[in-house]
Amino acid sequence: MSETLLRDAVRRLAAAGIENPRLDARLLLEHAHGDNALFEALVCRRAAREPLAYITGRKEFWSLDFEVGPDVLIPRPESETVIEQALAAFPDRAAPLDVLDLGTGTGCLLVAFLKEFPNACGLGIDVSQKARAIAHRNVVRHGLAARGAIDGGDWSVAGSYDVILANPPYIETGDLAGLEPEGAYEPVLALDGGADGLSAYRAVVPVLAVLLRPGGRALLEIGAGQEGDVAAVLALSGLGVVRTAPDLAGIPRVLVAAHRG
Ligand SMILES: C[S@@+](CC[C@H](N)C(=O)[O-])C[C@H]1O[C@@H](n2cnc3c(N)ncnc32)[C@H](O)[C@@H]1O
Repeated sequence: MSETLLRDAVRRLAAAGIENPRLDARLLLEHAHGDNALFEALVCRRAAREPLAYITGRKEFWSLDFEVGPDVLIPRPESETVIEQALAAFPDRAAPLDVLDLGTGTGCLLVAFLKEFPNACGLGIDVSQKARAIAHRNVVRHGLAARGAIDGGDWSVAGSYDVILANPPYIETGDLAGLEPEGAYEPVLALDGGADGLSAYRAVVPVLAVLLRPGGRALLEIGAGQEGDVAAVLALSGLGVVRTAPDLAGIPRVLVAAHRG
């Protein structure tokens, strides 16, 4: 019975332009737990190009399981470059670092960082109250409530930090309509970087410059081709790029920045 259902679902998902119709159909079947009517409804949603992660409510990042929903960006594999670079920049895993995650979304960067640095304490901020609720649940889910907090803020927060992580919205407004259909389900607030894609960096970088301790590192995710522009924004606030790291596709993806001089 389920073989016929599965074959039909694969055909429909392929016809809808889904890249991995077989894999998605299998995951939806698993998610339906033997309820054929539910499976049918899930296939319809996926065929309408709703992201798989929003349908299942789950996404893996840094080999950790995260709750996701339409109020947060779905964590991307390329954002794991931020964590890789944090590990390279701070080789002492036992260091009692203070970390700030600006625009935390699911909290994926904060949670992954705190998992890697067991003596670190962290704060994730987001302007979206709904995102904050999900981030908080992810912090709790991973047993990090004693070391990780989530708070509100419009790129602003008090304190000083050894490490600042930020994956701001960086897509040019004019490019949003050209994203894969799945992108239309994600919050504009998490994607829209303004007319030139740099609005959020212009807002975030002066904050970094104030909050980053001497000797600290800021790790900024960037969009393809933005390294020169974001480096120029950093320079205006007295920060310099100490390293540019590519993602697995070879695209410069993370700027590691520090105070100059
Ligand atoms: C590209 S998403 C990154 C989410 C998560 N850090 C990740 O890497 O998957 C950007 C996040 O910034 C948040 N954001 C947008 N504008 C903001 C603002 N003015 N102040 C604080 N957070 C903001 C969005 O709500 C969204 O969660």
